[in-house]
Amino acid sequence: MSSLNRRAFSQGIIGSTLTFSLLESLFCRNAFSDEIKPLAAAWLAELNTIGNDIKNRKLTQVEWQEQVEKLMAKVNLTELMKFVDFEKLTKNLPLSDRGERAVSKRFPEVEGLPTKLVFGHQIFALKKNRSVAPHGHYNMATAFLVLKGDCHGRHYDRVEDGEDFMIIKPTLDQKFGVGDYSTVSDYRDNIHWFKASSPSAYIFNIHVLNVDANKTKGGRVYVDPFGEPLAHGYIKAKVLSKKQAYDQFG
Ligand SMILES: [Fe+2]
Repeated sequence: MSSLNRRAFSQGIIGSTLTFSLLESLFCRNAFSDEIKPLAAAWLAELNTIGNDIKNRKLTQVEWQEQVEKLMAKVNLTELMKFVDFEKLTKNLPLSDRGERAVSKRFPEVEGLPTKLVFGHQIFALKKNRSVAPHGHYNMATAFLVLKGDCHGRHYDRVEDGEDFMIIKPTLDQKFGVGDYSTVSDYRDNIHWFKASSPSAYIFNIHVLNVDANKTKGGRVYVDPFGEPLAHGYIKAKVLSKKQAYDQFG
């Protein structure tokens, strides 16, 4: 190849690369409006920072709950819903006859939001009168935020674990409408139960797993909160299998 041809060839490659980069950045810019992208990304980035803080023990689990609740209180739902692609994710989504249907999609890669997040996320979709059955968690901090519809939400403190029961105490029992939220940790409001009271309901869920690296047990534990009433508002609640819980409450 002559030096002239070589130069022309190189310039062509560079030209194509530039065109591609330009198209790519234009596409990215069009995918989200300029106002929506940074606000939702900043909010999620803050959630990620708080998540790192609980893992690194800069925050206790209860402090994490307080911080997350403060953040939830200032969420811009419209922008968050666009960011998580709510319409596309839930359009024509068949709802389960028992319990929740979970859907999730990777967040778009945008400036200011780490690509590797410390928290997992999903949207729970519920049909009217169907529930995320009453359950607690091991070694997990989690939050619910209602995106659409209404729910009856209940929380309980998990005071003591027995062989096949636990002692719980009601802490929260209220209607959750759009924008309402609650949190769970091993130390406060560990049991939660959400039942849709509108034709459909959609809940944004985030969760930090393995909060304490020294603990190995994880996952959910299901209970029947309509257990044996004890003194001072405590309840002896039977531990249920997942099937029992969803047959009874899902
Ligand atoms: Fe949960």
